[in-house]
Amino acid sequence: MSLKSPTLKQQIELMQYALPRHLDDGLVMRIATPDDAESLARFNGHTFGRERFDELLAAYTRHYASDAHPIIGAANTLIVEDTRARKIVSTMCLIPQTWTYAGIPFPVGRPEVVATDPEYRHRGLVRAQFETLHALSDAMGHLVQGITGIPYFYRQFAYEFALDLGGGRVCYFTDVPALKENETEPYHLRAMTCADIPFAARLYERACARSLVACPRPESLWRYFLDDSPLARAYRMPFQIIATTDGRAVGYVDCNHDIWQDAITVGEMEVAEGQSLRAVMPPVLRWMKAHGEAEGARQNKPVNAIYFALGRAHPVYDAIPELLPKMRPPYAWYIRVADVPRFIRHIAPALDARLARSTMAGYTGELKISEYRRGFKIVFENGKIANAEMWQPTVDERGDCGFPPLVFLQLLFGRKSLAELREMFPDVWANTEPTVLLDALFPKQASCVCAVG
Ligand SMILES: CC(C)(COP(=O)(O)OP(=O)(O)OC[C@H]1O[C@@H](n2cnc3c(N)ncnc32)[C@H](O)[C@@H]1OP(=O)(O)O)[C@@H](O)C(=O)NCCC(=O)NCCS
Repeated sequence: MSLKSPTLKQQIELMQYALPRHLDDGLVMRIATPDDAESLARFNGHTFGRERFDELLAAYTRHYASDAHPIIGAANTLIVEDTRARKIVSTMCLIPQTWTYAGIPFPVGRPEVVATDPEYRHRGLVRAQFETLHALSDAMGHLVQGITGIPYFYRQFAYEFALDLGGGRVCYFTDVPALKENETEPYHLRAMTCADIPFAARLYERACARSLVACPRPESLWRYFLDDSPLARAYRMPFQIIATTDGRAVGYVDCNHDIWQDAITVGEMEVAEGQSLRAVMPPVLRWMKAHGEAEGARQNKPVNAIYFALGRAHPVYDAIPELLPKMRPPYAWYIRVADVPRFIRHIAPALDARLARSTMAGYTGELKISEYRRGFKIVFENGKIANAEMWQPTVDERGDCGFPPLVFLQLLFGRKSLAELREMFPDVWANTEPTVLLDALFPKQASCVCAVG
């Protein structure tokens, strides 16, 4: 599989979309070119590094805005340039990728690295770029956009916090068990290579199966993450294989340069079936502690713990509960679904399967979901979704259930149950039989998405 999906630039040409777009005061919105990569790297490094230049983000930018990047590239990067001052003043990029919902693949556009020069803020530059990016991403067939970002801000662009993001447990360095005298490490860590991909891919697939929404990783994506070119290595660490003393791979860890609230981060960790997870943890903790101390010194940041950012539930938490005293609650992905009925039609086989297993098996009828100012109608025939379409609630016909705008996305993506939403929002309601139907169709189910970044 190639990683190259259509780019924003190609979509602009296809739609004859009006870009470059002239904004006020000599500002122009356009697609970046590889020649912008270095100025964009400087711009992002300064804009995000509040106290000091963010070297890692600058290195990431240098890669993603170059022609060498297999997924993003300059062709998926929007910039606003002040043509009078001849400088970049705002930007965002798009990372096309595929996620799955209960195993059903769907195309996603992930906007990333959204930034405006402090002197140009509150002038609508991000709003203008989102108008363009959303129109193009929708036209590229992305059923969903997902963004990880600062609190509240993206709500203004029709996003809802609909999926868990991160969260996990913390192990303090002081609790990391030391190697006993005369004891040798029973397992060691080494950089993953492409030869390890079939092994790691099996483990990753098993992890994806625990998550309602997941981001599958074909071989081409593993190769992308293992890219050892200087451009990629400047900001990304290779995954580590956990191996026995005789070199047999038993698991892998995704460790990185991220230091978050004084802790070095683990983004993924899996071991093979039949391997004791508890047995591999002490060597992994020791390795992570040494790595965290080195990173802290290199980045001049305090580090005193290891953060297993593996979601709400993970086998690691069950393996060493006594070493993980602190819980960090998940944040959330901002999710935008421009056409909810279309998404429901797309995932209908998963919803049909849930219905078939439920007390409403074989159901025939309609479910009218009001969002007060608009709504959706799902039509069922003999236990299967026959259609989903937009539907307009009125004073006389208020439907079967109601949600304030966008809140339904939390139910759709399994973040909260209907009962929890009713508790949180007094204007979420459902009639009796629709309650049973909604509970059957949309049970609460955790997700931990390891997205393409
Ligand atoms: C957050 C940031 C990208 C906003 O850029 P901007 O160009 O000022 O955004 P816009 O002017 O297009 O703002 C769009 C709307 O959001 C509002 N807004 C701007 N900054 C906001 C903020 N930090 N929080 C909430 N709302 C904000 C604006 O008032 C505007 O509302 P309006 O359209 O009703 O008038 C910019 O402040 C920035 O670069 N911050 C540092 C980097 C950062 O945190 N990026 C986001 C990482 S996820």
